Amino acid sequence: MIDIRVLTIFPNIFDSFLMYGNPARAIQMGLVKIQAVDLRQFADDPRRTTDDYPYGGGIGMVMKPDPIVRGIRSVQGSTNEVQVILLTPQGRQLTQQIVEELSSKASLLLICGRYEGIDERVRYFVHDEISVGDYVLSGGETASMVLMDAIVRLIPGVLGSDSRIDGESFYNGLLEYPQYTRPREFEGYEVPSVLLEGHHEKIRRWRRKMSLKRTTKHRPDLIRSMTIDNEVKELLQEIESESLI
Ligand code: ADE
Repeated sequence: MIDIRVLTIFPNIFDSFLMYGNPARAIQMGLVKIQAVDLRQFADDPRRTTDDYPYGGGIGMVMKPDPIVRGIRSVQGSTNEVQVILLTPQGRQLTQQIVEELSSKASLLLICGRYEGIDERVRYFVHDEISVGDYVLSGGETASMVLMDAIVRLIPGVLGSDSRIDGESFYNGLLEYPQYTRPREFEGYEVPSVLLEGHHEKIRRWRRKMSLKRTTKHRPDLIRSMTIDNEVKELLQEIESESLI
């Protein structure tokens, strides 16, 4: 059972996220516990303020460190070995490998920033900082949903028995091959004939080739960091010679 808490000023944002699909299934199966914790309960003034003006001036507000650190300590007091993670565009960029690493933890606390930023000193109280990509969101809440979704679907038993993660994008360091279902012809576009012939070895090779082709086009950085076996070498040569035609 993974215990995930999310520290946020908008706890209700998570209601529908927790009601559907894999997160809902995982919760119902008792494989994960997800709780949004209202940051405002850790404010120390009657107006429950969680932000303030930036020292040095400038536009926007900055999240105060004290409510956040009180929130962290409160969660640490109720569970042991909590991995505290700050969602921020300045963090290390989320990858499937990081998701795998985090899915093996017993307890996570995700801290969602809002406003223009968070007081720098909060960084002394977290174990990790994670970004979901090189763009700026209005807050860490949607980023934390991305992270939780990716974690939850890796928990054994969460995906249906007919779902497999071993063909998926990034599982083997490549983008996923193209998938088709009925109808066989759609608005003039045909399903590739190799998929209709039932020759499993040919299908396997074709899928690997399509994965490589797609990855070469959209994510050449992934090709550069993969291990190239003989078949990959062959397939890359085929792809290159076909692209010259
Ligand atoms: N908060 C705002 N933008 C973010 C991003 N890209 N990743 C994680 N947290 C964020």
